[in-house]
Amino acid sequence: MHLQFSALVAQVILFSLFLVATALARPAPLPQPLLSSPKLNIDIAAAAAPATPAAPDAKGKIYHWEIENFPTSIAQLTKPFHLLQPLQPGKSAFDIVPDPVAKKNQKRNLNRLQKRAPATERILRSLYPAKSYSHSKDPHASFVSTPLTNQAFAGPKSRYIRLEYQMLFQPGFKWVKGGKLPGILLGSEQGCNAGCSGGGSAENCFSTRMMWRANGEGELYLYAAKSVYFPKEPPNTCKRNVGPSSPESIFDIHEQWLNADRIPGDDEGVEAIEDSELVSGGNSTSTLAKRAAMGGSCLNGMKVTISPGAKNICNPAYGISIGRGGAFKFKSGTWHNVTQLVKVNSKGKAVRDGYLVVYLDNKMVIRAENLVLLKNGYDPANAQTDTGLVKFMFSSFFGGGSADYATPVAQWIGWKDFKMSSSPSNVWE
Ligand SMILES: *[C@@H]1O[C@H](CO)[C@@H](O)[C@H](O)[C@H]1NC(C)=O
Ligand SMILES: *[C@@H]1O[C@H](CO)[C@@H](O)[C@H](O)[C@H]1NC(C)=O
Repeated sequence: MHLQFSALVAQVILFSLFLVATALARPAPLPQPLLSSPKLNIDIAAAAAPATPAAPDAKGKIYHWEIENFPTSIAQLTKPFHLLQPLQPGKSAFDIVPDPVAKKNQKRNLNRLQKRAPATERILRSLYPAKSYSHSKDPHASFVSTPLTNQAFAGPKSRYIRLEYQMLFQPGFKWVKGGKLPGILLGSEQGCNAGCSGGGSAENCFSTRMMWRANGEGELYLYAAKSVYFPKEPPNTCKRNVGPSSPESIFDIHEQWLNADRIPGDDEGVEAIEDSELVSGGNSTSTLAKRAAMGGSCLNGMKVTISPGAKNICNPAYGISIGRGGAFKFKSGTWHNVTQLVKVNSKGKAVRDGYLVVYLDNKMVIRAENLVLLKNGYDPANAQTDTGLVKFMFSSFFGGGSADYATPVAQWIGWKDFKMSSSPSNVWE
């Protein structure tokens, strides 16, 4: 009894010392949720944003989807992924193989092993051919999936979308300058310049993709209600006239695009140039100083919590980078868990009650609150329409749109355990 008691006391002391030591070792840690459960659950969601977690819908129905077992061919993914366009073996930049980092598979010929591996041990890979960058140059790893039914948001209260996946950058992955990773897309992409990626105006839709950058640094790459975050940007016009006082006029290089009839594809040219100038410290000092002043300037009431040292970068043509330069870091050769939890802002004119939390390996790394994702919020009456359809947007490529983003060699990223639900909590465990 005494022995047990002193063992307990010793454990408590050791644990306290551990807490003190960790507190000292990390000077300014990102505020973590109060609950330290290793599982992501409703309490963490509640701690992440002080809003009362609502019932998923009026009847308490939760819509969820997951894929754990992979078929042998990507041609068979249409049904389980609810794909809008089927994937074609040999044409789409994906394949399915046994987990290459699983010990028993390491020295084996994956292609020969492929059909014999149990479905639970197979994974999806996105493939990046040597010299590829940006999605315009090569067939790139992309699909749009609608895993949740369009009644997912039918209840007046459910505005949650939760996306999870596991991902593996191949061992020794060459990060180069960065690339795009999947996220959530909600809303209509129809209409003039209404796209939610690649320079679209993102008024009635939003996307929450992520990016890796040089050295495996991670960030959130957000497109959301442009009229809220870039109020001077004229919305929904095909020709945008950039005057000297428009915020985007400081991105002088953007003007040629902004005045063009066609908004360029994702990051073509522009962002790459801007990035390389930011990184190399470029030479057009005056533009550069103005650009630096633009960092974080669009946040407009959004409350962002990221690691010290990381930045938010506002770019009227290319969305908002949250947590650039150190919000979190990916490692190659090891499986990561990525979770995004979104609460869409409620119906009304720019109601600031949305939030978005990103977890890497069950640790909160980015938190954005008071967020307006849709200009007019989520209207339950639209649940059945294109506007209300929740999509899993998988679009992955190196880039940036310039050759300095290109991968020097053929590389891959592995994926498994895709999950999506209309609940804030983890409904799978
Ligand atoms: C900027 O330009 C000047 C000359 O125009 C050059 O000497 C200098 O090295 C340049 N700086 C950078 C950072 O490129
Ligand atoms: C990721 O999640 C799975 C399933 O919950 C778990 O088994 C695994 O340990 C997690 N990996 C990391 C790196 O957190």
